[in-house]
Amino acid sequence: MSGPFVPFPSENELYSKAWAKDIFKGKVVFCTGGAGTICSGQVRALVSLGADAAIVGRREGNTRNVAAEIAKVRPGAKVIGFGCDVRDADALVAVVAETVKQLGRIDFLICGAAGNFLSTVEGLSTNAFKTVMDIDLLGSFNTVKACLPELQKTKGRVIFVSATFHYTGAALQSHVAAAKAGIDALSHSLAIELGPSGITSNIIAPGAIANTEGMDRLTARTGVPEDLQKNPARLNPLGRWGTVSEVADATIFLFSDAGRYINGVSLVVDGGNWRTSNSLANFLYPTIFLPGAGKNFDFGTLKGA
Ligand code: HXC
Repeated sequence: MSGPFVPFPSENELYSKAWAKDIFKGKVVFCTGGAGTICSGQVRALVSLGADAAIVGRREGNTRNVAAEIAKVRPGAKVIGFGCDVRDADALVAVVAETVKQLGRIDFLICGAAGNFLSTVEGLSTNAFKTVMDIDLLGSFNTVKACLPELQKTKGRVIFVSATFHYTGAALQSHVAAAKAGIDALSHSLAIELGPSGITSNIIAPGAIANTEGMDRLTARTGVPEDLQKNPARLNPLGRWGTVSEVADATIFLFSDAGRYINGVSLVVDGGNWRTSNSLANFLYPTIFLPGAGKNFDFGTLKGA
């Protein structure tokens, strides 16, 4: 292999071969944002390992179609799709009741519903900022509240799908970054408050994940800059973007028996990306030292910079 580029693992692989086939038999997962690329991948992996599932999305027809697709992953799997806006707390309570009626219980909750668009602060109206806060943060709160009675019965596990860009801040994402920071604080607090009931609360923070709506949107106007295509290690120590199946693996781990003592953490799934982003030396490192990058870097050029 020449240069730092590492090929993507095959997207046909749902998850690592590390997991036993029926570890989630008899378990039920409830997932908001479940029709989206990342969350449907998480649910598909859990269902393939024995779980049944209810997924929630705003577009009912689309969500039902995704549910039907997920169900194909395992013969006998029950996967229900609901049309529901997470900003509507009463509608969520009704959907949770229907889930329990049809599937009997809720063991795992994934709060994944997220609103997003790129905008400067200047271009954001008060209502636009509030809309994203309402979908991401208030929607997560509404979902936890609606599921809590069921999670208390099962000593359930909660995962919030967050992000990493609010660790450093991100241009054009001030609204989403603020919401994700709130979600992190919500999860940390629930970990302490609900821990005594046997409920764990954790965060999965994906970095840039290939072939998702978010990434497509981010690169729609510019494409992936040529130098990043040639040398992805400029941004990521592992030299590539993540995959949906790698987020699914982290989800399996946290919901599995192996994750039983993990509570109140943020599990970052980003190849080490965000750790590189706040230092000039880190940013320059791949340019200077990795194979295929510029040779014989003259440190003298930094003088006076
Ligand atoms: C500025 C915008 C805007 C934009 C909407 N608004 N889009 N402002 N730039 N591009 C403003 C509207 O003008 C309005 O404000 C307010 O937001 C609410 O708009 P509505 O259309 O009434 O709201 P609603 O239909 O409820 O929701 C709109 C939406 C939602 C938030 C854009 O449709 C959405 O999130 N769609 C994308 C879903 C998605 O892809 N989720 C995955 C996220 S991936 P005014 O003042 O006019 O009333 C992710 C990972 C990170 O989060 C990826 C990194 C990039």
